[in-house]
Amino acid sequence: MKRDIVSAFDMKDDLEDIIQLSINLKKNRYESFDETRNRVLAMIFEKPSTRTRVSFETAIDQLGGHAVYLNPNDMQMGRGETIPDTARVLSGFVDAVAYRAFRHENVLDLARNASIPVINALDDLEHPVQIVADYMTFLEKKRSFSGKKLAYVGDGNNVANSLIVGAAILGMDISIGCPKGYEPDSSILDRSKAIAKDSGSTISIVSDPGEAVSGADAVYTDVWVSMGEEKERTQKEKLFWPYQVSEKLMDKAGRDAIFMHCLPAHRDLEVSAGIMDSWKSVVFEQAENRLHTEKAILLTVLA
Ligand code: CP
Ligand code: NVA
Repeated sequence: MKRDIVSAFDMKDDLEDIIQLSINLKKNRYESFDETRNRVLAMIFEKPSTRTRVSFETAIDQLGGHAVYLNPNDMQMGRGETIPDTARVLSGFVDAVAYRAFRHENVLDLARNASIPVINALDDLEHPVQIVADYMTFLEKKRSFSGKKLAYVGDGNNVANSLIVGAAILGMDISIGCPKGYEPDSSILDRSKAIAKDSGSTISIVSDPGEAVSGADAVYTDVWVSMGEEKERTQKEKLFWPYQVSEKLMDKAGRDAIFMHCLPAHRDLEVSAGIMDSWKSVVFEQAENRLHTEKAILLTVLA
């Protein structure tokens, strides 16, 4: 059976293994593997990307395969060819597809109709590949997941949703501090709480950012305005102001708390420039770890 990673839930049984594999791959970045030699990854990107695109392209290259980057405007998909037809056609050419889409439903549609693995490279609901690098970075810095707490402050968006699933799988506590009306997806929350029950972790959603970060080992934030939400900018930037990760907010977290961000970041909006560029910030290590984790993900789905 083929292996899709459309949601972070698709890594329920092996997220920790994928992280461990990433840590091993980081030690020898030019190691190549028979499983991936000459394999081709198609990458459909409906939205811009720096990290996801470059990390996947570099990953498949270093693994001995190739990437084909596809902008929907240059594909027949942009002129009305259906996603199911595109899925069937690509399945005849390439070995896996990474898809960055506006709608989660479209990633599911591609996965349902492709006979090859489909990897979600971000959509409106989730960013599952991002959180593999995030939790790898967390593990490198904090040595374990159990008994640890991640606080996410800001918009309950795609990144927040996948982080919640990941924390539940890995057995660490997560607290989300967000304004009312901007909470994470409720069905993701319910499913994650069921997993957290077994893994022994807790998930809490609060509206006070100080309460969210209290005692946290890591404080994470993301942009207030995600790609595709540009019309909401003025209103959101006003509403989210109390959720900026500032020096004052970081002081309420654990003494050795690290600062995390999936990037791209906006200094002096969701994070103060001082925190972004401080010793607490691990954001560029997170970004580099995207390469090692994309490799682990590709090896996992192509094996
Ligand atoms: N973090 C992340 O996915 O970045 P890009 O949008 O640059 O891929
Ligand atoms: N939440 C952001 C993440 C960017 C990597 C967005 O969807 O634009």
